[in-house]
Amino acid sequence: MDKQEKRTKDLTLTDRQGHPISDNQNIRTVGNRGPSTLENYHYIEKVSHFDREKIPERVVHARGAGAHGYFEAYGKVGNESIAKYTRAKLFQEAGNRTPVFVRFSTVVHGGHSPETLRDPRGFAVKFYTEEGNWDLVGNNLKIFFIRDPLKFPDMVHSFRPDPVTNLSNPERMFDFVSNSPEATHMITFLFSPWGIPANYRQMQGSGVNTYKWVNKEGQAVLVKYHWEPLKQEIKNLTQTEANEIQALNTSHATQDLYEAIKRENYPEWELCVQIMSDDEQPELDFDPLDPTKLWDHKQFPFLPVGKMVLNKNPDNYFAEVEQAAFGTGVLVDGLDFSDDKLLQGRTFSYSDTQRYRVGTNYLQLPINAPKTHVATNQRGGQMEYIVDKAADQNPHVNYEPSSLGGLKEAAPSGLEHEPVYNAKLVRQKLDRTNDFKQAGETFRNFENWEREELISNLVDALNVCVPQIQQKMIENFTNADPEYGRRVSEGLAHSKKSAHLGSVDAQEGAEIAEESGKQSDR
Ligand code: HEM
Repeated sequence: MDKQEKRTKDLTLTDRQGHPISDNQNIRTVGNRGPSTLENYHYIEKVSHFDREKIPERVVHARGAGAHGYFEAYGKVGNESIAKYTRAKLFQEAGNRTPVFVRFSTVVHGGHSPETLRDPRGFAVKFYTEEGNWDLVGNNLKIFFIRDPLKFPDMVHSFRPDPVTNLSNPERMFDFVSNSPEATHMITFLFSPWGIPANYRQMQGSGVNTYKWVNKEGQAVLVKYHWEPLKQEIKNLTQTEANEIQALNTSHATQDLYEAIKRENYPEWELCVQIMSDDEQPELDFDPLDPTKLWDHKQFPFLPVGKMVLNKNPDNYFAEVEQAAFGTGVLVDGLDFSDDKLLQGRTFSYSDTQRYRVGTNYLQLPINAPKTHVATNQRGGQMEYIVDKAADQNPHVNYEPSSLGGLKEAAPSGLEHEPVYNAKLVRQKLDRTNDFKQAGETFRNFENWEREELISNLVDALNVCVPQIQQKMIENFTNADPEYGRRVSEGLAHSKKSAHLGSVDAQEGAEIAEESGKQSDR
């Protein structure tokens, strides 16, 4: 076949069975205006595939953009030997490169919602390490709204549109938040300019939850992960700036990432960790397992361990970005969970939703499959297609243990980390909840303009809420810092804005609440 023939063949349209299609414009009919026939195989295949082109959106973080790149280890943590803290192979050698895929996202709204919304941003990284995959599923902000996973579905429902009207109404969010004081700190970040990053490149990332690192001796430390932009400056938007962008472009962040990589202006982040000894840290006024808290960076410095560069756009959005599946349970040897309850709750949820959203064998898709040896007896299920096997494996033995040439357990790469427990099984909060102190510190640490934006954004949002919600929020802000509470309170008092449509329902809701309150009093 000469070059031209090959080119013609390569570009020839086929169906999914590889049959060349010579007419892609007309279905087969009896005469050119007669009925169509059922054997229109090409048409039926084409439209039935189209009918199934969508999969369920992610239940949160539906709107996203992704890119490929690599992580390069520094071979140390700060100036210390990294092996002292973790035996995870990807970190050990300076210059060791691990391929990565990153998906950035917004959280609350659907797959085509504007990327200018006030919302945390997802920052999920899949490391295809030589010891299997590691997913670091983080956000841009360093803390979270809640600390107990039981509250997550309620929290997300409250942030979503009203189930009757399908209209967004901040009253729903503030109803939940005002009754969840641990959210005061996160709300302080979210309603400040830090709640709208300018794009996905110019923002930080954080694992938020507390994890563990384990060394060869089985000793553990507590760690938090943070991504710090290296070349690109951190940039946030005021509400007015976001509104202006949103009026013209609802995909500005996806566009910014795609075009920057296309121009070879590759974004880079440094991965830093904060380390604490693996104990309750009774000297601190918060629990290190509480994801609503920052770890003071003066006391627990950010120690760099490597850098990440994103240098390749996906070839296909659906195959890679949409079907990518990240989860907090996806760790490599030397990285471990802590007893952070939110982390443990998350760890069930990710692979559970992915079996539903993508399918039982989602881990066989190229974007999710490890780029290393996989030898498992978990085969079967819809769309299973991998038939390869380990070189010496007896293909008849799909169970373990066996003496007939089946797969064998790996040799341990170090001692197990074996924490000791001696406590009652209970349903209780952590002791040191301290819901307001850090919210106050964050408020005071903002620059003046950031504080002004925060107050103005909160006043705008709280303006449509019924007075009892406003009052509870003011109390929570006052507990954080008296000036914070006073300024929100004054802003609301002076606000001349009329409540929007949602407040009609709010008024109705308040009446129902009052009525049910009366009934339960009786
Ligand atoms: C996505 C659950 C808290 C970051 C998701 C998804 C679920 C989920 C079900 C959709 C996954 C998929 O369809 O592939 C939960 C639960 C949480 C929780 C139950 C708390 C109990 C958090 C926190 C963070 C976070 C604290 C930040 C550290 C993300 C990110 C994604 C995500 C970045 C998008 C991943 C992607 O790009 O595919 N979460 N989440 N989540 N979550 Fe969470």
